[in-house]
Amino acid sequence: MSELLLNTQFTLETIAQIANQLLQLNEKTILFDAPMGAGKTTLIKEICKQLGSTDNFSSPTYQLVNEYTFLTGKIYHFDLYRLQSIEELLDIGFEDYLQPNNYCLIEWPTFAQQFLQSNFLKVDITVQQNIRYLSASKF
Ligand SMILES: Nc1ncnc2c1ncn2[C@@H]1O[C@H](COP(=O)(O)OP(=O)(O)OP(=O)(O)O)[C@@H](O)[C@H]1O
Ligand SMILES: [Mg+2]
Repeated sequence: MSELLLNTQFTLETIAQIANQLLQLNEKTILFDAPMGAGKTTLIKEICKQLGSTDNFSSPTYQLVNEYTFLTGKIYHFDLYRLQSIEELLDIGFEDYLQPNNYCLIEWPTFAQQFLQSNFLKVDITVQQNIRYLSASKF
């Protein structure tokens, strides 16, 4: 079961507002499902900024997950693009990251979604004729 909660155009002019709307939806596990270059990392960076994280932000290129801190907990930023199997996700202890105080923001989430039944958001970004659209559903 999922419920569509947000459906909008996604531009750099509106990214702050969109990040804020996503945070208002009050789910700490957020999957970002979108083609390469659609803007997943850019949006996650804005979310981290709005959570008040002042840590150096980067794309988790050589490792699967980056850790940032904010006022009330930790943010785990996953990029699972290179993940080959669900076993690799188990190997890094994925389930241990899913604690109530932590945000888990996940790019390329196909394998991760197999662990999750409910209490997460899925953000889909599509690009059509150079225009980006973003929708968010609560599971
Ligand atoms: N809403 C947007 N509108 C226009 N350009 C954007 C938008 N969001 C991101 N971009 C630009 O698109 C490029 C790719 O963004 P980004 O790295 O965030 O994509 P990504 O989905 O994380 O890519 P990857 O699949 O490689 O991880 C960047 O140059 C970024 O500035
Ligand atoms: Mg990225």
